[in-house]
Amino acid sequence: MAILKLEKYGSPILREKALPVEKVDEEIKELVQNMIETMYAESGVGLAAPQVGVSKRIVVLDTEEQGVIVLINPVIIKKEGELKEEEEGCLSVPEVYSPVKRFSKVTVEAMDLEEKKFRTTQEGLLSIALQHEIDHLNGYLFIDRLSPARRLMLKGDLENIE
Ligand code: NI
Repeated sequence: MAILKLEKYGSPILREKALPVEKVDEEIKELVQNMIETMYAESGVGLAAPQVGVSKRIVVLDTEEQGVIVLINPVIIKKEGELKEEEEGCLSVPEVYSPVKRFSKVTVEAMDLEEKKFRTTQEGLLSIALQHEIDHLNGYLFIDRLSPARRLMLKGDLENIE
């Protein structure tokens, strides 16, 4: 296993729409293991494949109750609860934090490493993390969801990211 290099703000791959995984082969399994190791090493709650330079629709999420959930080709099929603002950050946008509005509860359908479809419903911080990671698969960063005024406030910090 290996810790992978993180793509940072400004890297074009973070702006691409990631491609679906057709088949969970050994290469994908190894990538997932390395993503999990990288997530732990960086103390992240979640990680999306484009963040490690792979434009594929894969997310790993660290939950306390169910351990690490691997989501391949995840799709949000239900958004519930109120929109809540919580402070967010991102391993690819270091040292930048801002409140973002997200749904308090989401249900996601995805494929696991055995290519079986499953659904997971998450609330609270894990709901936020899931929405944040799935945004990565579509080329969005949390800063895209801020008001223009807030983004302007972060402009200096963003320019400092290398
Ligand atoms: Ni992120």
